[in-house]
Amino acid sequence: MAHSQSYPLSKCLPSQTKEEMENQKRTYQSFRRLVSTLLSFDGVANHPLYCYNGWYAALPLLVSAIVAREHFKAQPADVLLATCPKTGTTWLKALLFATVNRSSHTNSHPPLATLSPHQCVPSLEFSVCVNDRIPDLDALSSPRLFGTHIPFQSLPASVIDSGCRIVYLYRDPKDCFISLWHFVNKLRAKDNIELWTLDEALEHFSNGISPFGPYWEHVLGYWNGHLERPQKVLFLKYEELMQHPKVHLKRLAEFVGSPFTEDEEKEGVVEGIIRLCSFENMSNSEVNKIGRAELEVGTVEYSLFFRRGDVGGWANHLTPEMARRLEEITESKFRGSGLSF
Ligand code: A3P
Repeated sequence: MAHSQSYPLSKCLPSQTKEEMENQKRTYQSFRRLVSTLLSFDGVANHPLYCYNGWYAALPLLVSAIVAREHFKAQPADVLLATCPKTGTTWLKALLFATVNRSSHTNSHPPLATLSPHQCVPSLEFSVCVNDRIPDLDALSSPRLFGTHIPFQSLPASVIDSGCRIVYLYRDPKDCFISLWHFVNKLRAKDNIELWTLDEALEHFSNGISPFGPYWEHVLGYWNGHLERPQKVLFLKYEELMQHPKVHLKRLAEFVGSPFTEDEEKEGVVEGIIRLCSFENMSNSEVNKIGRAELEVGTVEYSLFFRRGDVGGWANHLTPEMARRLEEITESKFRGSGLSF
């Protein structure tokens, strides 16, 4: 069950003239040349991480981010779901999609039963601006939902100019780091590359060299965006979502302009969505067990997005010194920002 194209995007690739295709290919090629001149570091599996505008990503993803920056036209009703990798993107995509499309989730075949959240909410850099094509996204029904890991400072200008909404999810950096370490090593194992020890991985992460990182700057960029325009940037924390899912799902629904009605609450619609998107339910669905996405960075099995789905699992892996190192970085970077864990 492989997917090269996210589900809502299949209708967004209109036939193009040869000249249009050549032009788009040239756009991608010129950005590829640009990115290949940047400083690079050992990174995730087969792909080195290149440093662009203060953050790090594999070459195809940086190229897509730059294409998105130039060509993605956000609309006021769009919702952009922004996260640093391994902070709960998959979960939030499911919750957001199920909430916005809840009328289709009340029937016996909810889309999330057969589609991965990553197909339902396509990512700008992994699925939208890819394969040398610039899709025409006007055909998507409103509100359009997109995911992204692109840091705030490199978002397409139209995201801010259009006034579209951004939902940002963050997580304790210690759990995020452990989740990333497992994820990267699964990819490295597939590519027959020596696995990272925890020490090696911690060195990279602490120095900010992680996909779409530095982690702390990623959070702070969106946090400052939230402080500037709180009505346009919603901040959610994985740990709080886990502890009080109903409270935060209702906040999310209100924020995206789809509040639950009293009747819906009485009928248990909120609890139904929480159950549908729970780790247990999602990780056991067929598509998330055996499906996979064919991405420019390689094949990624959807099962890789589900490991434990809990809070505080870092304590099983990090020594007290390692934990302290991450806590001290967090404390110094977040000091005075109003953010904490
Ligand atoms: P762990 O590795 O700590 O278990 P992302 O989606 O950003 O890649 O994040 C992946 C992390 O979110 C993994 O964390 C994964 O298990 C967790 N996760 C995935 N689906 C989830 C869900 N429905 N509820 C809670 N956590 C979930």
